[in-house]
Amino acid sequence: MEKKKNGVRVILFPLPLQGCINPMLQLANILHSQGFSITVIHTRFNGPKASNHPLFTFLEIPDGLSESQINDEPTSNVMSLLAQINVNAESPFRECLQKLLLEESEKVSCLVDDCGWLFTQSVAESLNLPRLVLSTFKATFLNAYPILPRIRTKGYLPVSDSEAEDSVLEFPPLLKRDLPRIFGEDGEKLDPFLDTIVDTTMRSSGLIFMSCQELEKDSLTLSNEIFKVPVFAIGPFHSYFSASSSSLFRQDETCIHWLDNQEDKSVIYVSLGSVVNITESEFLEIAWGLSNSKQPFLWVVRPGLVLGAEWIELLTEELVRSLEKKGKIVKWSPQQEVLAHRAVGGFLTHNGWNSTLESICEGVPMICLPGGWDQMLNARFVSDVWRVGIHLEGKIERKEIEKAVRMLMVESEGEKIRGRMNVLKDEVGRSVKDGGSSFRSIAALTNHILSL
Ligand code: UDX
Repeated sequence: MEKKKNGVRVILFPLPLQGCINPMLQLANILHSQGFSITVIHTRFNGPKASNHPLFTFLEIPDGLSESQINDEPTSNVMSLLAQINVNAESPFRECLQKLLLEESEKVSCLVDDCGWLFTQSVAESLNLPRLVLSTFKATFLNAYPILPRIRTKGYLPVSDSEAEDSVLEFPPLLKRDLPRIFGEDGEKLDPFLDTIVDTTMRSSGLIFMSCQELEKDSLTLSNEIFKVPVFAIGPFHSYFSASSSSLFRQDETCIHWLDNQEDKSVIYVSLGSVVNITESEFLEIAWGLSNSKQPFLWVVRPGLVLGAEWIELLTEELVRSLEKKGKIVKWSPQQEVLAHRAVGGFLTHNGWNSTLESICEGVPMICLPGGWDQMLNARFVSDVWRVGIHLEGKIERKEIEKAVRMLMVESEGEKIRGRMNVLKDEVGRSVKDGGSSFRSIAALTNHILSL
């Protein structure tokens, strides 16, 4: 898909989270392959490694966070850091963009930034620069932003045991039991953010999804109706460009050699992404569940994953010995390579949208353990709509984990799930091939940007 340079520059501004940086830099690669020059403005916090992307220009702006906030805050505070950055970064961003527009010799056609930035639409408007919004969520989830405050106050919460299995009629396929983990303890604080995101998206020049018609045709049509801007679903981005070069953590490559020595589809890969946290007891339940399942496993325990712990020091020697018989624990993996490895047969995941898409594209069925927010919806699609995974329903208990792992990896139910996953993988795979729905959307997006 590589095209000649078209003399037009696009400015990108990722939200500083791993799950948002990966898609933004993949989008940068996609746009570059369409002939655009790329400038990436980024905060100092979680800034991408410029040396991994020699084709792009990087500009760092201050984010007002102290050294100790950046280095010592647990990931559980990432959301509060993001809220602070959303205030602190506005002026530096405006100054940076203003200077860039004055000095740039090429035509700058637009800004593309994450739907989680609250100030960028106003800044772009004041500088007469069109803005496109990138949603790192499934379209179905972003579509619910205008109605989330209503759902929160409708009387569904708190959810009683007898109603937990009921559907949320306004927001299928969510169940009422999913709602507390979407709204958290003080959900009313979300309302102004949701209002701003809906308003600024409606004022934008277009909405880009890392998704495709094959996964959510109706939701994409609805996005266009709700936000009243052109919508471009250009596919799982990693199908075109790997996320490895934008990894914020050092990827432990030894796990690939370890996988080389395992049998086909025998390994359950376990990772809860870059922001989810679990408690000490949940960590130990997962450890015992994996150990008791007797299945080989590759487990990513991100430093800071377990609240109050550095890494895996909470595991007793006895448990470590038992785990080492069958598995490998790493701090961070080259996830796309892992999921593509012939030895991996299942993924116990938090269902971040990137991880969910990466799993689908490699045909790896899932065990769903969503932590919150959009992950609750992604997990419902995986388990209840596409039926390509088993939902743990929040039960982080050794028996439940052992049961789910064995069901997925060795029992006949797992075979059926795998069969459905292979069909879904092929459908999504077709979308990014020449002439497929996402492939055509990239061409439409390119023309749209050139017309701005
Ligand atoms: C966050 C939210 O959790 C998610 O719901 C939202 O859709 C995007 O922002 P995160 O928790 O990081 O993302 O999860 P996810 O979206 O799955 O992204 C994680 C990324 O890190 C994936 O691209 C994955 O391949 C990568 N990863 C993860 C690694 O490269 N190595 C690992 O060991 C784990």
